[in-house]
Amino acid sequence: MELKRPRNEFPIDDSLDELERLAETAGLQVVGRAVQHLDRINPATLIGKGKLHEIIESRAEMPFDVILFDEELAPNQQREIEQAFEGKDIKVLDRTAIILDIFAQHARTKEGALQVELAQYEYRLPRLTRMWTHLARQTGGAAGRGGTGGVGLRGPGERQLELDRREIRGRIAHLKKQIEEIRKQRGEHRRKRQREGLPVVAIVGYTNAGKSTLLNALTNAGVLVEDKLFATLDPTTRRVKLPSGSEALFTDTVGFIQKLPTELVAAFRATLEEITEADVLLHVLDASHPNLRDQAQAVEETLEEIGANDKPVVMALNKADKIAGGEGRSAQMESPLAARLSFVVTQDEFLREGNAVQISALQGQGLGELLARVERALAEEMIDLRVRIPYSANELAALFHQRGIVEREEFSEKGTLIVGKVAASLVKRFGRYQI
Ligand code: GTP
Repeated sequence: MELKRPRNEFPIDDSLDELERLAETAGLQVVGRAVQHLDRINPATLIGKGKLHEIIESRAEMPFDVILFDEELAPNQQREIEQAFEGKDIKVLDRTAIILDIFAQHARTKEGALQVELAQYEYRLPRLTRMWTHLARQTGGAAGRGGTGGVGLRGPGERQLELDRREIRGRIAHLKKQIEEIRKQRGEHRRKRQREGLPVVAIVGYTNAGKSTLLNALTNAGVLVEDKLFATLDPTTRRVKLPSGSEALFTDTVGFIQKLPTELVAAFRATLEEITEADVLLHVLDASHPNLRDQAQAVEETLEEIGANDKPVVMALNKADKIAGGEGRSAQMESPLAARLSFVVTQDEFLREGNAVQISALQGQGLGELLARVERALAEEMIDLRVRIPYSANELAALFHQRGIVEREEFSEKGTLIVGKVAASLVKRFGRYQI
């Protein structure tokens, strides 16, 4: 199948393991898997006819109701495969459909729900269209085959198709309008935050990396933590104290995953803008996962896609407790030597070359060092400032302490001399006292 954009490919088994977890999260039980290596895909059914036949036959020994493809299926492929089962009620789904289903289950705010609904309709529209076109041919008879012309040409299926298509398009337009409203509100909140001079740190990462656990550990925010994929769909923002005493807003965002279709990413624009507008990104990685590098790369690709790849990044190599001696280590020991070596090399490389810290969000290890790194990254984005604030405007000195980084402070009868750094958005507030 022609891929829309170059992608980093996970090893097949790992990608299928992940798909299995997605299926379980969506409430399915996986009974078997099949793999086919193809030089060219079969346009009609994606996999070859022989392989499809093999899968159909296997139903005798291992009954199943759903086939789940790891690759995106074109609408006609989905239909062809369903038909190959000759009347048996088999559902043919792909990765995107499952992810959408999980998203739908996990959307907790109105915004999240609207975005998922939009993504679902965008996904269904072409599928619905072709399905009905096909039905129209079967039931209407005349449709598409020429005939007498006029209204009689169109079978009931075709008319239904028009109605459904129009209805879905209308719904899509309506959803987009509502989401746009929310985007505007979010924009206003952001501007308010900027006026207050609070720097924003967006927590990003692969699904299940531990973003919510980290935000909880940092703030006791009570953000939902579940060992399920995509437990978090809606951003949650909390205030966190940094080592110097200043504060920043940390915002938890939707988890990323490989093979996330571009349309789906686009539907979450309102949520993803929290990332593009952040001052610093905190990239949380599950350092105990054998696909550490692939997962990191999938996150970087998505960041690039939403235009956030030029932000300063601090990496948190999470779940260090699992590597030190627990379950993660034994899982790694069982994997082939090459995989084990590449895993160790990857971690070292991140620690050496990236701005990375080893942490355990669960056990609260390494969080001080992590916050110090975040503070440093934020400081690099700040502007040097030297002010003398009269005692009558003491609230500004307090603001400097709370929002900025104070490097030197001296008191005289003229007021408080402060040398340090503040966010660019705050500089104006100190304008008249700058020296
Ligand atoms: P999504 O909502 O899917 O994006 O996930 P997330 O990145 O927010 O992950 P979450 O915080 O929900 O954690 C996923 C799982 O990893 C949970 O079972 C956590 O308990 C577990 N976990 C998170 N941090 C650690 C850690 O430091 N050590 C260990 N052992 N487990 C962790």
